[in-house]
Amino acid sequence: MTTLWSGRFAAAPDAATLEWGSSFGFDRRLFEDDVAGSLAWARALARAGVLPPGEAQAIERTLTAILQEGRANPGFVEGPDEDVHSFVERILVERLGDAGRRLHTGRSRNEQVSVDLRLYLRRRIPALQAAIVRVIGALAGQAGSAGDALMPAFTHFRPAQPVLVAHFFLAHAAPLRRDFDRLARARDEADALPLGSGAIAGTSYPIDVHALARDLGFTRIAANSIDASSDRDFAATFLYAVTLAMVHLSRMSEDLIILCGDEYRFFELSDALSTGSSMMPQKKNPDPLELVRGKSGRALGHLVGLLAALKGLPSGYNKDLQEDKPAVFDAEDTLAGCLSIAASVVAGLTLNRSRAQAAASGMLLATDVADYLVGRGVPFRRAHEIVGALVHRLVAEGREFTALTPAEWRQASELFGADVVERITPRASVDAKQTPQSTSPGAVAAALRDISAWAAAAGS
Ligand code: ARG
Repeated sequence: MTTLWSGRFAAAPDAATLEWGSSFGFDRRLFEDDVAGSLAWARALARAGVLPPGEAQAIERTLTAILQEGRANPGFVEGPDEDVHSFVERILVERLGDAGRRLHTGRSRNEQVSVDLRLYLRRRIPALQAAIVRVIGALAGQAGSAGDALMPAFTHFRPAQPVLVAHFFLAHAAPLRRDFDRLARARDEADALPLGSGAIAGTSYPIDVHALARDLGFTRIAANSIDASSDRDFAATFLYAVTLAMVHLSRMSEDLIILCGDEYRFFELSDALSTGSSMMPQKKNPDPLELVRGKSGRALGHLVGLLAALKGLPSGYNKDLQEDKPAVFDAEDTLAGCLSIAASVVAGLTLNRSRAQAAASGMLLATDVADYLVGRGVPFRRAHEIVGALVHRLVAEGREFTALTPAEWRQASELFGADVVERITPRASVDAKQTPQSTSPGAVAAALRDISAWAAAAGS
C-alpha cells in the first residue's frame, strides 16, 4: 500500500503499525463529507487559477462518480488506506492520473479532517434533534391522556407534594427541549470553515475562502490557522450536548424503573418492552430503561476521554486528534438508539390512576395545612412549627390529617375552621398553586399546549 507520504521514506511502513494507526475503519463514515469538501476545494483551486478549468471539471466529474458509487454500494468504500481522505484521493488518481494528483495543492489533511467532521455534524445533528422531538411527543401524549390524575412528587426521594401526573411527564420533556437547543448550538459551533489553514501556517495560493465557505454552506471562517488545525472544541461541545441529553434520559429511566416497580406501580411498562428472568418466573424487568441508564456512562466517558486527549496537546495538529471520531460517532449512535427506545417505552406506559392518586395523599398535605394557617394571618415560620408538631403526633399515632376530628384540629390551632376538611385534599393542593411553572391544572394545560405547539413546529 502506498501512502500519501511515501516519498520521504527509504523503507515501506511496517504493515501492522500502519494498520493499527489507520482510521479508515471508522472515518469511512465521513466519506460523503470528504468528497463534498474535495469538490468545493477543486472549484476553489479553479477560481484561484491554480487548476485549469478543464482539470477542475474532470476532478468534479470523477469525484461525483465516486460519491455516487460509494452511496450506492457501501462496500466500495473499503481498502487498505490509512484514512478516508487517502482512499478518496487514491481512487481519484487511479481514475484521473495527474489531474487527480493536483487536487491536494495548498491543502492538508489536518484541515480536511476538520472540515469533514464539521460537515458531518452539521448534516447529522438534525436527525438527533428530530428523535428528541419524538420523545417529547410521547411525553406530551402521556401528559395529555393523564388528564387530571394525581401522583406524589418527590424530594430526597421522599413523597413531597401532590402533582398532576401530566406535570411529571412534562418535567421530563423540559430538559429534552433544552437538549434540542443545545444540539443546535453545537451545530452552530461546527459551522466555521477551517480550509485555507493549510497544515498549520495557511496556504500560499490565492484561495477565496469566503466563496469556499459559501460553497460548503459555512457561515464563518476559522480565525487562526494554527488554532484551526487542532480545534476540536466543536466536537467536545457536541459530546457535552449528547452527554447531557443522555443524563436526562438516564434520570427519566430511573424514575420509570422505580415508579413502574412493584413498590409503586404508578405506571405499567408495556410487556413488549420488558424482559423476563431465566430463573424467576415472576420477573418483569425494565431492561431497556436500565440500558439507557447504563449507556449514559458510556457517553460521559467519550466526553471525558476527548477532553483528556485534548488537555496535554501542544498547539497544531497531533495524531491524538484522530481519537475524536470514534468518540463522536459512538456518542451519536448511543444517543440515537436511546432516544428511539425512550420514545417507545414512554408511549407504551399505562397509568395506574388509583395507585398513583392514593400515594398523593397523607402527610404530603402538610404544606397545605401550613398555608391554611398563613391564610388566617399566622406567620409562615410559626405555621410550620404548629403543623410540624401535628405531623409528629399523627405519625406517632399512625393517623393522617383526614382522620382528625374538628376538635382535634382546633386543639392544634383555634384558627382551623370547618372548611379545613375540603381545603386539605390532594386535589385542592394542586388547584391552589398559582405560578405558571406550577402543577396547577391551568398552568399544566398551558405548558402542554406550549410544548405540543413547539414539537409540531420543531418536527416539521
Ligand atoms: N486520520 C487523521 C485524523 O483523523 C487525518 C488527519 C491526518 N493528518 C496527519 N497529519 N497525519 O486525524
